[in-house]
Amino acid sequence: MAPSWTPQSWRSSPIKQAPAYPDQAALEAVEQRLRTHPPLVFAGEARNLMSGLAEVSRGKAFLLQGGDCAESFAEFSANNIRDTFCVFLSMATVLTFAAGVPVVKVGRIAGQFAKPRSDDTETRDGITLPSYRGDNVNGGEFTAEARTPDPERMMRAYYQSAATANLVRAFATGGYADLSRARHWNLDHHHPDLSRRYNDVVDKIYEGVDFMRTFSLADAVKQQTSRVDFYFSHEALLLPFEEALTRQDSISRDYYATSGHMIWIGDRTRQPDGAHVEYCRGIRNPIGIKCGPSLSEDDLLKLLATLNPDNTPGRITLIARYGHDKIAGALPKLIRAIKREGANVVWSSDPMHGNTLKLQSGFKTRPVDRVLDELRAFFAIHRAEKTYAGGVHLEMTGQDVVECLGGAQAIKEIDIGDERYLTACDPRLNASQALEVAFLLADTIRAERIKDGHKIAASA
Ligand code: PEP
Ligand code: CO
Repeated sequence: MAPSWTPQSWRSSPIKQAPAYPDQAALEAVEQRLRTHPPLVFAGEARNLMSGLAEVSRGKAFLLQGGDCAESFAEFSANNIRDTFCVFLSMATVLTFAAGVPVVKVGRIAGQFAKPRSDDTETRDGITLPSYRGDNVNGGEFTAEARTPDPERMMRAYYQSAATANLVRAFATGGYADLSRARHWNLDHHHPDLSRRYNDVVDKIYEGVDFMRTFSLADAVKQQTSRVDFYFSHEALLLPFEEALTRQDSISRDYYATSGHMIWIGDRTRQPDGAHVEYCRGIRNPIGIKCGPSLSEDDLLKLLATLNPDNTPGRITLIARYGHDKIAGALPKLIRAIKREGANVVWSSDPMHGNTLKLQSGFKTRPVDRVLDELRAFFAIHRAEKTYAGGVHLEMTGQDVVECLGGAQAIKEIDIGDERYLTACDPRLNASQALEVAFLLADTIRAERIKDGHKIAASA
């Protein structure tokens, strides 16, 4: 690392998407308070995730990353956290057992509050106000008061993240995620075919577990299946918050972002000389980089040189988010540049952000067909380039929402209205739509593995 890095060195670099806080003293007071608060995650856990992602970069595991577009104060409840966790587990079950691939599980949860926006302001009926930037910055309501950035919101986001992380950790390790409960994770009450497919996978798992027990392997099976490793991630957009939670690890003396295990740099803030890249270069967590249509090969290589000079496997996850109609024109040249450079990366697909459209009613949506098309194209491109399609990055929820078009429930434009459109920002896949994506992924991965002669070892 260049010696000039410090947790605050980002402050001298050009910054995009930064909220204009009207009261600097109030902002500094909050930063000071946050600096005294406990970390939300530990460095050792971030290192474990890095090892898991290194396995993905070697083609030996698959990354499943997903959750809300934006967590919100209003939608904060134990049931919502549980339901998102359940969808996640049922998807991971399908991928692990139907595709036969170990799954690294990373939630967009316990800190995913700040949102980049295309416009700094929003105008309604001749009135212009600052855009909503996520609940840790300002409120969504269209009033001058709500839209004024308020640093106290960072404290509330911190406490909500801590409570969410606590519950998710309890679910992951306290019995809820025991594989013997797999049938209970399926939230799909709408589509009998999907439920049947899921239950078939679960039946096969139970048969396999019984089979192992007959060989007196019950203890070993229990050890492997009674808990899951689950990690937290978010976009590291709000740098005053990230800086205040940056801590030096007592063992390695390295700096870590302790706001989450993995953080990513958004498509709008990945300028190689920008503040967000400067911040990320000095912390040792796994880093995601969103790769959209405007990312050149040159800039991508500059980013890798800055963020991963040692070429450490697992450090960088490239999250391609092009759109079903743009991916074929844009992704292959980046893959080739990475190959030429011999860079170790995880290639993941975000099939959500390039496939957003606005309905006449004003609601943003995403057609599930396009999401599936982009995923298929992502796998096909990697097959053609002989590289490994290593992961997926989704916006999804366990709540029974109606936000994305199509899917097993055949949601139509006319179905999308106020009632079950609950996202604080972008439209999410609901439980059925997410499970459908998991089955498409499982089928595709299994087919790839068969073509490759099962190079990837199946394991729980
Ligand atoms: C997001 O992941 O919510 C997001 C804003 O993505 P991107 O930076 O890819 O637009
Ligand atoms: Co989003």
